[in-house]
Amino acid sequence: MVFYRIYGSVTLLALAAQSLAAPVIEERVYSEATTTYTSAAATTVPIVPVTNVTSHGPYTGTPTTTGALSTTVTAASVPALPADPIKYEYPADGQLHMDEPAPYTPGGGQGVNGSAPVYRPQSDFDYESLALALYQEWIELDLFHWGLATFSTEEFEAAGLNAEDRFLLEFMADQEAGHATLLTNILGAQAPVQCTYNYPVTNVQEYIDFSQKLTRFGESGVYGFLPHLDSRESAQLLLQSITTEARQQMIFRQFEGLFPMPVWFEVGIPQSWAWTLLAPYISSCPANQTRLIWQNFPSLNILNQPNPARINGSNAWNETTGGYTNTLSTKGIKEGDACLNATDPSEDCGPAITQNRTQPLSYPGRKVHLNWDEPGMALGPNNSYVTSTTVTEPRFAAWVTQLNVTYSPLMDISGNSAWTIQPNVSVFEGDPAINGTMFLAITDEDLYVTPFNLTQLNPHVAALALYQAG
Ligand SMILES: *[C@@H]1O[C@H](CO)[C@@H](O)[C@H](O)[C@H]1NC(C)=O
Ligand SMILES: *[C@@H]1O[C@H](CO)[C@@H](O)[C@H](O)[C@H]1NC(C)=O
Ligand SMILES: *[C@@H]1O[C@H](CO)[C@@H](O)[C@H](O)[C@H]1NC(C)=O
Ligand SMILES: *[C@@H]1O[C@H](CO)[C@@H](O)[C@H](O)[C@H]1NC(C)=O
Ligand SMILES: *[C@@H]1O[C@H](CO)[C@@H](O)[C@H](O)[C@H]1NC(C)=O
Ligand SMILES: *[C@@H]1O[C@H](CO)[C@@H](O)[C@H](O)[C@H]1NC(C)=O
Ligand SMILES: *[C@@H]1O[C@H](CO)[C@@H](O)[C@H](O)[C@H]1NC(C)=O
Ligand SMILES: *[C@@H]1O[C@H](CO)[C@@H](O)[C@H](O)[C@H]1NC(C)=O
Ligand SMILES: *[C@@H]1O[C@H](CO)[C@@H](O)[C@H](O)[C@H]1NC(C)=O
Ligand SMILES: *[C@@H]1O[C@H](CO)[C@@H](O)[C@H](O)[C@H]1NC(C)=O
Ligand SMILES: *[C@@H]1O[C@H](CO)[C@@H](O)[C@H](O)[C@H]1NC(C)=O
Ligand SMILES: *[C@@H]1O[C@H](CO)[C@@H](O)[C@H](O)[C@H]1NC(C)=O
Repeated sequence: MVFYRIYGSVTLLALAAQSLAAPVIEERVYSEATTTYTSAAATTVPIVPVTNVTSHGPYTGTPTTTGALSTTVTAASVPALPADPIKYEYPADGQLHMDEPAPYTPGGGQGVNGSAPVYRPQSDFDYESLALALYQEWIELDLFHWGLATFSTEEFEAAGLNAEDRFLLEFMADQEAGHATLLTNILGAQAPVQCTYNYPVTNVQEYIDFSQKLTRFGESGVYGFLPHLDSRESAQLLLQSITTEARQQMIFRQFEGLFPMPVWFEVGIPQSWAWTLLAPYISSCPANQTRLIWQNFPSLNILNQPNPARINGSNAWNETTGGYTNTLSTKGIKEGDACLNATDPSEDCGPAITQNRTQPLSYPGRKVHLNWDEPGMALGPNNSYVTSTTVTEPRFAAWVTQLNVTYSPLMDISGNSAWTIQPNVSVFEGDPAINGTMFLAITDEDLYVTPFNLTQLNPHVAALALYQAG
């Protein structure tokens, strides 16, 4: 047995990369390593040059370019078509129906015929999607550093975040440098570089809330396009980055004293939604920065956005630091209403692995008050993108969560204001659909869309926000 294990390892060693060092064998044979070897890593790929962004705040200059990147547009929208009948042909009965290309290898699958993988974009769809993801990685890299540089140790401690928590934040920034390197290497010489940013926060609680919301659309933005990429090879690498980002999102929820994962499925969104929510926080980019094709929708402002800094979080009015992410503001919260230092464990919301909220942030039947911006607003890098919509009359709120898009009618529409009722809907029995940090759009139609064709909703979107359901 022992011989077999040595033999097996040696064979493996011979076959595998040189960097599989000898101590592996020792450790497999004996329960403890008997000798310490040092072995220098064979190669270390450098990360992209990262300069610390030194200026933050809004852009005040005049843009030299305006509008999203575009080429010849061949139709106003993509028509909805019936399903391809071939998709119903495979019997799916647990039996094998094809020859095996090799032992233990089922027939079918994509990218499994032995062709060497090529990790590069194969289409405009790929390039624009990966470039969007890179813009997102860059802002995260800066945001995590910026928080550490901006708020004092005392301010972090007052929000319940100690030195070990701050190291975790620093480590997350390091992860972003890796993700930015990966995407830059895939995209090549014209890959977007780091910009300067403008964050809607003034203290640690607002900062953690903004980070929790920003990583939500970062994660969901990638889930929306990942299965549509032509380059499955790039999708593989991006998948392995975005699962790390998903952990960051959950950790920010824990830092904020929220229930870490109140849903059974994480939602995916179209690229233009991610860009809409990201661009307002980019103030300027270098002159030759590669631009993006994606649409910027107008902001949806949630007047009673639930405020996780309150004991009764749903009892909030006009308590955000602005539209789009609708990040919490701590400004109007009176001492006895704040949950951070609440002494009753059912009311407190200090950082924790998990927290029960006795009074939920939102609930089915909640009246949600909304107003929305007109299109035509300049925002994003150097104020060089312009918000747009093809909708003239919004009539529905679209609750985009988990696997479902649920519509509720807009009531008392007056100019750019209305209210609606939070729907009572479950994905599957026992999993209320509307929870966590999710997406709320207003639309002109209650179009039926599912996770793989959510982008079909874009021509019907009038404005977009994040809603803090739980
Ligand atoms: C960026 O700032 C961090 C501290 O926040 C520092 O450790 C690092 O050396 C700086 N990097 C550069 C390139 O200046
Ligand atoms: C989206 O996909 C569903 C099937 O999952 C289909 O019934 C629906 O018509 C599609 N919607 C559009 C707008 O294409
Ligand atoms: C393997 O699949 C790729 C598509 O992924 C195709 O371009 C290539 O021709 C296939 N190679 C063989 C030997 O069938
Ligand atoms: C919470 O308590 C800390 C001291 O432990 C204090 O510094 C901080 O201001 C308090 N925050 C709130 C919102 O009450
Ligand atoms: C912008 O210009 C710099 C310096 O010439 C160059 O290194 C970089 O690749 C350019 N970036 C883009 C996106 O073209
Ligand atoms: C954006 O603004 C920055 C800072 O003012 C400037 O350096 C850059 O050239 C501008 N970019 C464009 C595309 O105008
Ligand atoms: C919490 O706030 C909501 C909305 O304002 C209100 O309906 C509810 O009664 C409040 N709950 C408690 C326990 O005060
Ligand atoms: C929200 O508060 C801001 C000031 O903080 C004020 O300008 C704005 O009118 C308020 N909006 C509503 C709908 O109350
Ligand atoms: C937490 O909430 C769940 C669900 O509402 C409940 O079953 C559980 O008893 C609560 N636990 C504590 C310690 O409050
Ligand atoms: C969201 O999930 C949490 C944790 O399970 C639960 O306490 C809360 O009531 C849920 N909120 C909604 C709106 O369903
Ligand atoms: C939501 O639906 C469930 C299941 O039908 C029901 O038990 C619950 O009372 C409903 N909640 C509201 C607020 O209507
Ligand atoms: C939510 O999505 C699931 C999974 O696609 C589907 O089975 C369910 O019918 C949807 N629920 C509603 C209320 O649309």
